[in-house]
Amino acid sequence: YFLGIDLGTSAVKCVLVDSAGTVKASHSVEYPLLQPEPGWAEQHPEDWWRSTAAAIRALLAKASVSGGEVVGVGLSGQMHGSVFLDSDRKVVRPALLWCDQRTAAECEWIEQAVGITELGRLTGNRALTGFTAPKLIWLRNHEPHHYARTAHVLLPKDYVRLQLTGELGMDMADASGTLLLDVANRSWSSEVARALGLPLEWLPPLYESNDVVGQVLDGAAELTGLAPGTPVVAGGGDQACGAVGVGVVQQGIASVALGTSGVVFVHDDTYQADTEFRLHSFCHGVPGKWHRMGVMLAAGGSFQWWKNHFASDELQQVEANGGDVYSYLTALAETAPLGSEGLLFLPYLTGERTPHPDPKARGGFIGLNMRHTRAHLTRAVLEGITFGLRDSMELITASGVEIRELRVNGGGARSLFWRQMIADVFGYPVVTVNSTDGPAYGAALLAASGVLQRDVSVLCQEWIKVVHRVEPDKNQQRRYEQYYEVYRSLYPALRCTLH
Ligand code: XUL
Repeated sequence: YFLGIDLGTSAVKCVLVDSAGTVKASHSVEYPLLQPEPGWAEQHPEDWWRSTAAAIRALLAKASVSGGEVVGVGLSGQMHGSVFLDSDRKVVRPALLWCDQRTAAECEWIEQAVGITELGRLTGNRALTGFTAPKLIWLRNHEPHHYARTAHVLLPKDYVRLQLTGELGMDMADASGTLLLDVANRSWSSEVARALGLPLEWLPPLYESNDVVGQVLDGAAELTGLAPGTPVVAGGGDQACGAVGVGVVQQGIASVALGTSGVVFVHDDTYQADTEFRLHSFCHGVPGKWHRMGVMLAAGGSFQWWKNHFASDELQQVEANGGDVYSYLTALAETAPLGSEGLLFLPYLTGERTPHPDPKARGGFIGLNMRHTRAHLTRAVLEGITFGLRDSMELITASGVEIRELRVNGGGARSLFWRQMIADVFGYPVVTVNSTDGPAYGAALLAASGVLQRDVSVLCQEWIKVVHRVEPDKNQQRRYEQYYEVYRSLYPALRCTLH
């Protein structure tokens, strides 16, 4: 078996996959998210490791698989978070996460110090609040005593690797989100590090995602139940691993990941960057390949917010009857007409990244009138998220890339209604595949690729099959197009008012 570990924002998910790509079992363990100030998001790396070890142990027991039967481990995880370690490799302070918005001033400083065009030329990206380098500068500005103790910086899943294998290492896919990687050349950028005054020696050795980085240590074996010496591959950030996990490893296939964040992701055989760097240009988990993506910060997050605060009373009843609240809500949305009778929703509830790199962006319902019911508002939330994701696709297609098919994954992919909406709003066929364990499955596939020395795309072809396909409905496509045009005009019009 191959073990895939996905270190998420709310839980770690571990999945066991056999050499034919069939999932044997999976298990998740949750951990707390700390929000010490509005807009801040932190976690204790020790919680990640404790929960990961517990999840692996529970998974092996649940599947009745012995540690010795696991022949490779792959790591995936939430991206961009900064793990600060001292020279004894001890945690200096809780990690600042991808969704932490405290670094707006640091981002401005970086873009002034380096210049937006030069930063884009060197890294392929803009300075965004979630990225890692601004977090290091925040530490230097606000907690100099912690900065002075720091000797190593890792991304979240790389801390788990350190505990498993004793090795400091990072894959290029996840490293792309640090703003310190020369993405085009797949190496650390000494120019950017120098311009920002950050020590390059804090950064670990770089690997391709299917490279074996180390072996499970005796102590880690005891805690997890894995066999000592089991090889661990580099893995990747959750977006790259998620794309591998649904087979987005060739040009022409894009994915839409509907998790807390929403990501439109496209594979590139050669390095490509948006002229204004509004898309993220990153290394892929496929060795020697790249990808671009647009990231909406609150996709499923907006839907969850709606569920928690405004639809909660009727949902209690649904839950009490053993129903699924999201299925209930998507069915409710379906009872409202396309376009929600002129009601539009802006999903910028936690600021935004793509296409508006604006930590202060605000969400909203626009166009309310007395006819609107909870069903309209629910539908408007789903439509607004989908329109916002289309903005990212527009940036991708503007570069000339031809898309044949969209693979939708993440929690939102379960709803056929939402998948049809995506097909209609984007104008592409939408498919789902047999693997539904996303990034954890992709991490297991990368482990198999590294250990068996097999090509990532060949394994994807063998393991991943399309199970469902919806075609865009031409009539609905035309009607959505009109609402999308209005949606696009809202952010620029409301920006000054809502700040
Ligand atoms: C991607 C990003 C998020 C996190 C979520 O750039 O920030 O998708 O990786 O875990």
